[in-house]
Amino acid sequence: MIKPDAVADGHIGAILDIITKNGFKIVALKYTKLSAEKAGQFYEVHKERPFYAGLVEFMSSGPIVAAILEKDNAITEFRTLIGATNPADAAEGTIRNLYARSIGENAVHGSDSDENADIEGNFFFSAFERF
Ligand code: CMP
Repeated sequence: MIKPDAVADGHIGAILDIITKNGFKIVALKYTKLSAEKAGQFYEVHKERPFYAGLVEFMSSGPIVAAILEKDNAITEFRTLIGATNPADAAEGTIRNLYARSIGENAVHGSDSDENADIEGNFFFSAFERF
């Protein structure tokens, strides 16, 4: 997912370019906006965290881009490409190093396991929206 900060800052094209140039195939793609309820549902696993309310508010503050990506070893490869959660710790040239504003407004989200990638893909896309 490209988060509201990176969309508002005009980085959709640059981020998709990095993703495809690094060998990820786009299986599904959508420009949409999450309601607070949907954002809360997406990040339900963080419900007890102190940053949850702020995260939900931010993630529903503007449009996002959701995508399903495919590549061998995609979870690890994508997490390497986006860099650490906190852009201050993100390696040079990673998407968060280049485009994130802060730990909370950190430009992109990537699934952390194949199981969660399935859950998160199903959150945004039907079978008819995948190619
Ligand atoms: P993401 O990879 O989307 O998964 C959970 C998100 O919670 C994370 O990126 C950050 O945007 C946010 N997050 C994690 N830790 C913090 C924190 N300490 N303060 C604010 N937001 C956080």
